Amino acid sequence: MSEFVQPPQSTVTNCTAQDYEAAYARSLSDPDVFWLEHAQRLDWITPPTKGGEWSYDPVEIAWFADGTLNLCHNAVDRHLADKADKTALIFEPNDPDGEVRTLTYAQLHAEVVRMANALKAMGVTRGARVTLYMPMVVEGVVAMLACARIGAVHSVVFGGFSPEALAGRIIDCDSEFVITADEGRRGNKPIPLKVSVDAAVDEHDTRVKGVLVVKHTGADVAMKDGRDHWYADLASDGDCPCEPMNAEDPLFILYTSGSTGKPKGLLHTTGGYGVWTATTFHYVFDHQPDDIFWCSADIGWITGHSYVTYGPLLNGASQVIFEGVPNYPDHGRFWQVVEKHKVSIFYTAPTAIRALMREGDDFVTAHDRSSLRLLGTVGEPINPEAWRWYHRVVGEGRCPVVDTWWQTETGGVMLTTLPGAHAMKPGSAGLPFFGVQPQLVDAEGQMLEGAAEGNLCITSSWPGQARTIYGDHDRFVQTYFSTYKGKYFTSDGCQRDAQGYYRITGRVDDVINVSGHRMGTAEVESALVLHPKVSEAAVVAFPHDIKGQGIYCYVTLNAGLEGSDDLAAELRQQVRKEIGPVATPDRIHFTDDLPKTRSGKIMRRILRKIAENDHGSLGDTSTLADPSLVDRLIEGRVDG
Ligand code: WT7
Repeated sequence: MSEFVQPPQSTVTNCTAQDYEAAYARSLSDPDVFWLEHAQRLDWITPPTKGGEWSYDPVEIAWFADGTLNLCHNAVDRHLADKADKTALIFEPNDPDGEVRTLTYAQLHAEVVRMANALKAMGVTRGARVTLYMPMVVEGVVAMLACARIGAVHSVVFGGFSPEALAGRIIDCDSEFVITADEGRRGNKPIPLKVSVDAAVDEHDTRVKGVLVVKHTGADVAMKDGRDHWYADLASDGDCPCEPMNAEDPLFILYTSGSTGKPKGLLHTTGGYGVWTATTFHYVFDHQPDDIFWCSADIGWITGHSYVTYGPLLNGASQVIFEGVPNYPDHGRFWQVVEKHKVSIFYTAPTAIRALMREGDDFVTAHDRSSLRLLGTVGEPINPEAWRWYHRVVGEGRCPVVDTWWQTETGGVMLTTLPGAHAMKPGSAGLPFFGVQPQLVDAEGQMLEGAAEGNLCITSSWPGQARTIYGDHDRFVQTYFSTYKGKYFTSDGCQRDAQGYYRITGRVDDVINVSGHRMGTAEVESALVLHPKVSEAAVVAFPHDIKGQGIYCYVTLNAGLEGSDDLAAELRQQVRKEIGPVATPDRIHFTDDLPKTRSGKIMRRILRKIAENDHGSLGDTSTLADPSLVDRLIEGRVDG
């Protein structure tokens, strides 16, 4: 048991080890009763009598299907009775000397109503898709809640995606409305959001007819008559009731990368997602009424949806919203914010932890962290060394660390230890949350028992599960339920130890996890081959000290052309233009050919091994059309 780290003896906890055992057992033996009970964490207009109604073959998933509710009411209005003056949001701007903005639940309510009225004035109706392209400011959260209030479906696109990527996501869900800001700020860089929205809408065939612009930095931006509106001009205070929604009505679409070129718009619905985020937030973060919670994720990712907007507010929590980045103005910024706002629960990504660890302990210890009582990580595997630093230095050895495994598709946390209940194992996410039935299978789909390593599947539905891919249910079925019939396949590799702890080893599909952000290799390849000089491209991951994984691109050029540093820079720019800075290639390797089988299939295994500098174990290369290519590729490997 020496690998295990015991949690501190805590006096308050939402869940002891005994509680967990009993609740987990009941969640499997009697899921409907169990989840109907937890559904009572929310206010329902019509309380549900039905729990899960689902099948993985054919794939149809519903939870609480005869219930009606509104999630904005649950996140905001219902707290007015007893928490009107409680702090909901503490906005910490990018610039440490900038103005902090604190909103109570009553003030949040007023702001959400103003935004909902603005949306209605722009013509947004129930069921309409509304694309958000926002900085991390109060209005981002407010806009999501305002959509939920009037029954519109939000689709948040991360502000680091390019205009091309934004346009693709607007077109895919046929969104007619965009909410943005003049500009965002991240570190010392302004982010020209409105300029990018104009490029997306003007240069692509979208049907956008209304753009709502929040004034944030005051930058001078062009406003198109009849289409663009300042938020302040359309906002109004009049009453705006919450639209009654069926539990299975769509709440949002969120795009994520898969192994094929086009991002998938995962669809989450109202009731199940609300119950899942409310319940997981309560237990995983052991939330108590006086906590100050801070999740550093952007609302453009699922973490920001579930643990900035919905989970905390459904629980009536007080939380920090941070506009900036961990290394501006210096590497102590996170801990300075912790000290300033007396943060008690802090949730961030391994990439940030590794980057800050490298800068030394002084940036951490310069700030008082005595308010912290719980730390969390999410997004990618955390190496035990970074885990230990987070636990020992940041958390002074006092704070439990929850390593939470989940996905855009799962809606909320699936594997974790619970802070008051379980010993922690650095590098392992831990145990299944209530209702989660993980299963490891081998390549043939045979179930593996006991301590084992295999592909991670989930065998029964949970309320927070995505219901479909917007507009393409077949793709949903193909992607998640066809590899192993009757099971949800996560595309992650995983080990289970003798104590039943799960350790995620990483993606087993063609998805790269760059700083906790999912990037499809096919997406990057499609962007590269758009360059007129490029003939073919193959993209693989390689281990990266800070980002977890980096992007390694093998590129062949059209006949007679030679690679150069200038061309590599052009290709990087090409990818940034098509997808965004998040996808910037780390390494570009020009080669005269790609390793292919005689039937023309690219042997990615070989490309991965070479990128990883693991030439010793290339395996069988005899089926290659040109076996001599391997030595040339090793020779030409790009390092740093
Ligand atoms: C992929 C999902 C979950 C919100 C952020 C990412 C990887 C996520 C962990 C973790 C090891 C993790 C998996 C997963 N991942 N959390 N704690 N340990 N790996 O959501 O963009 O949908 O990515 O992130 O590979 O499949 P996402």
